[in-house]
Amino acid sequence: MIQTKKFGDLSDSDRHLVVSARDTSMNAYAPYSGFAVGAAVRTKSGEVFTGANLGNASYGLGMCAEVAAITKANSAGDYNIEAIAVVGHKFTDPKDATQVVTPCGRCRQLIFEASQVAKADVRVLSCSGDLRHIRETVISELLPEAFGPKNLGLENIWPDMRDKLVRSVTELQI
Ligand code: THU
Repeated sequence: MIQTKKFGDLSDSDRHLVVSARDTSMNAYAPYSGFAVGAAVRTKSGEVFTGANLGNASYGLGMCAEVAAITKANSAGDYNIEAIAVVGHKFTDPKDATQVVTPCGRCRQLIFEASQVAKADVRVLSCSGDLRHIRETVISELLPEAFGPKNLGLENIWPDMRDKLVRSVTELQI
C-alpha cells in the first residue's frame, strides 16, 4: 500500500536516506532537462550509496540518479539493497520542488532485480524536492508482475556464483 508520509514520520535512518538523496541532487548534471534528481540506497549492512542524474547532449543516453546509486552499491560489492530514496525537482524557471518523483520504468526494473538478489521487497521512498511530500511503497507494488531472474530459473544463482567470480579473478593475480 502506498503511504503518504511527512518527513517527521520517518525513522532516523530513513530521514538520513532522504536527506542524502536530496543533498546528492545538487550534483546532478542536468543542463538539458533542468530537472535534478538524487537517489540514495541503503544496503543490509547499513551503508548508504548515493547517485545523481547525468544528462547527455545525445539526450537518450542520459542516466538516472537511481542507476548511479545502485551501480555505486554494486561496485562497492554491497548489492543487498533494502531501501531507496528518490528526490527530484525542477530547478529552472518556473521552479518546482513540490512534485513527488517516483522511479522511472527502467529504474523500477533495476530496483526489482536488486530486490531479487537481496531477497527483500525493497522499500521505495519517493520525495518532492522540498521533502514535504513523501510516498512510501515497495518495489513489488511499483512494478507488479515483474519479469526477473525467476523467469529464467536463475533466482538462486547469485551470490554463490560471485564466489566463483572472486576465485577466478584471484587466480588471475600476478
Ligand atoms: N530522472 C531520474 O534521474 N530518475 C527518474 O526516476 C526519473 C528521471 C532524470 C533523468 C533526466 O536527467 C531528468 O530526470 C529528466 O527526465
